[in-house]
Amino acid sequence: MVLRAFSPSSVVALAASLFFAIQPQPASAFYLPGVAPTSYKPGDTVPLYVNAIRPIAAPRDGVLHSIVSYDYYHPNLHFCAPDGGPQHVRESLGSILFGDRIMTSPFELKMAKNETCKPLCTATYNVMSAKFVNMLIEKGYSLNWLVDGLPAGQEIIDDLTGTEFYSPGFLLGQDNGNNAIVFNNHYDIVVEYHEVSGNPDQLRVVGVLVQPSALDYGDDKTVDCSLEHKALVLSTKPGGKTPVQFTYSVYWTRSKTAWATRWDKYLHVVEPKIHWFSLINSAIIVVFLVLTVLSVMVRTLKKDIARYNRLDQINLDDLSGTSALDDGVQEDSGWKLVHGDVFRAPTHPLLLSVFLGNGAQLFVMTGFTIMFALLGFLSPSNRGSLGTIMVLLYTVLGFVGGYASARVYKSFGGEKWKLNIVLTPLLVPGLVFGIFFLLDLFLWAKQSSGAVPFTTMLVIIGIWFFISVPLSFAGSWIGFRSPAIASPVHVNQIPRQIPPTTTYLKPIPSMLLVGVLPFGAIFVELYFIMNSIWFSKIYYMFGFLFLCYGLMIITCAAVTVLMVYFLLCAENYHWQWRAFLAAGTTSLYIFGNAIIYWISKLSIGGLAGGVLYVGYSVLISFLFFILTGSIGFFSSWWFTRKIYASIKVD
Ligand SMILES: *[C@@H]1O[C@H](CO)[C@@H](O)[C@H](O)[C@H]1NC(C)=O
Repeated sequence: MVLRAFSPSSVVALAASLFFAIQPQPASAFYLPGVAPTSYKPGDTVPLYVNAIRPIAAPRDGVLHSIVSYDYYHPNLHFCAPDGGPQHVRESLGSILFGDRIMTSPFELKMAKNETCKPLCTATYNVMSAKFVNMLIEKGYSLNWLVDGLPAGQEIIDDLTGTEFYSPGFLLGQDNGNNAIVFNNHYDIVVEYHEVSGNPDQLRVVGVLVQPSALDYGDDKTVDCSLEHKALVLSTKPGGKTPVQFTYSVYWTRSKTAWATRWDKYLHVVEPKIHWFSLINSAIIVVFLVLTVLSVMVRTLKKDIARYNRLDQINLDDLSGTSALDDGVQEDSGWKLVHGDVFRAPTHPLLLSVFLGNGAQLFVMTGFTIMFALLGFLSPSNRGSLGTIMVLLYTVLGFVGGYASARVYKSFGGEKWKLNIVLTPLLVPGLVFGIFFLLDLFLWAKQSSGAVPFTTMLVIIGIWFFISVPLSFAGSWIGFRSPAIASPVHVNQIPRQIPPTTTYLKPIPSMLLVGVLPFGAIFVELYFIMNSIWFSKIYYMFGFLFLCYGLMIITCAAVTVLMVYFLLCAENYHWQWRAFLAAGTTSLYIFGNAIIYWISKLSIGGLAGGVLYVGYSVLISFLFFILTGSIGFFSSWWFTRKIYASIKVD
């Protein structure tokens, strides 16, 4: 891995190049890095790289039993290494963060040359290794190989639609029933290749399948894969030692699949119809709800504003002594009463502004990421591009965070501007990094390959402190130099008394009510995203994601505005934190959903697995808290400014 070779001092120089570092492929000017096709002549070596081994849903029960991944060359696995030891393959930052550990392998694949039963190496498994391997097999671990950037999969028939597709990995071994756990030591590799426009010298890899099998060669000196061997079982009897001979065969088959569509078989959507149906369903409900609420509110508001302004007129007439004010027209009531307090700075303005700055940063980052994905920049052959793009955008958008935080803080009349500038790029990223680091310690302790290497940690800290923080400072500086966003109405000296509120406007019920709707908008998509995270499925439905993100923003904004309206009508002017927290409650539902998912779809044993799962869920929920909270706050701010600007206040 390129990262390990760098000293901390060159971290920054490295950072930029890292973003676009990808697997070595001759990139042409017309393709994005990593997505240029590679053509081979017959007999050319096609590299086969090995990636970390990961758990997938165990075949026996369809449940995920672990979330800890291991290096392919873990000492207890005894897999054959190439001469001179395995080398790390260049990877992008996102690829490393998302758990790829790609290394070279001893397999020799020659384009369009069938080879059968090539011996690889022998290894002896002692009891400890055998137990470790059997544990992994029972938990459904799978090997992840990459041939020309394509994952080596197994063919799977979808029960629902009867279509065939390729899984992104193949099994380490299987449970043969009656408790015999067999270990795969022979691989039949089938590579599909495509001839570019009839030119026999331009061959491209368009599909890779591996059919692993367990062959107990016993003491055969001449390995013969075609013989009927009994299944290989690693001995776990005390003192048992099992010698294992690894072998492989390569078959090349011509395919009609073009290079451009080679990923289609991997990106298999299990239930596109169901997906569309549920999405449209929730979209209709959300849009209907929001429209109803908005139309009722606009009408009410118009009436309110007209009434207030009429009352004003009467009051003026009254002053001039022309009419008496006892004709049944009510005194001012509702939200106008709090006009002198509504723009009073909230408590803890510093913390709120820091959260809002980071929320704005996340909001823009998410928007851009989904846009990039929609435009097709995040091709699956460009491994880790999603993670890389997100880190890159978050770093660069530190500017937006600093700016938003500073402007909000200035409008709140905050005076500790130095603290604001410093905390904006440090507090939220610091919390996220802290949790991330603690989880990494757990992975280290488990000897998992999922642990982000120390040097990568240094790179992240480098990017954070040398790129993101200065950009945030610059944004803050510009934000503080800009004039404060003036309130449309004057703030009174003395705060008004707040009357007791009704039940549903109390903090907790209002938060729970507001949070549930944005969650409803993304609920279905969340399920697919979690499936792709935990079951290593490739997520590519960015069109759906885009729609859902839009729906979530609209719902979040509309519901929060509605709550703030009711709050102001109840003469409670502490709307700033309330709006932020109520909208942020969406994250509580997301966390709850993750826990339900854990109970229903995963069966992760052990403390480490549980801590990791909960830890990652907390991390994601926290980011959602900042994001949705900010959406709620900014929409409410816009709303209050609009309505108070439209009434006359003496
Ligand atoms: C290689 O093996 C595959 C599968 O058995 C077969 O279809 C193909 O014709 C073989 N190719 C050559 C060059 O023998």
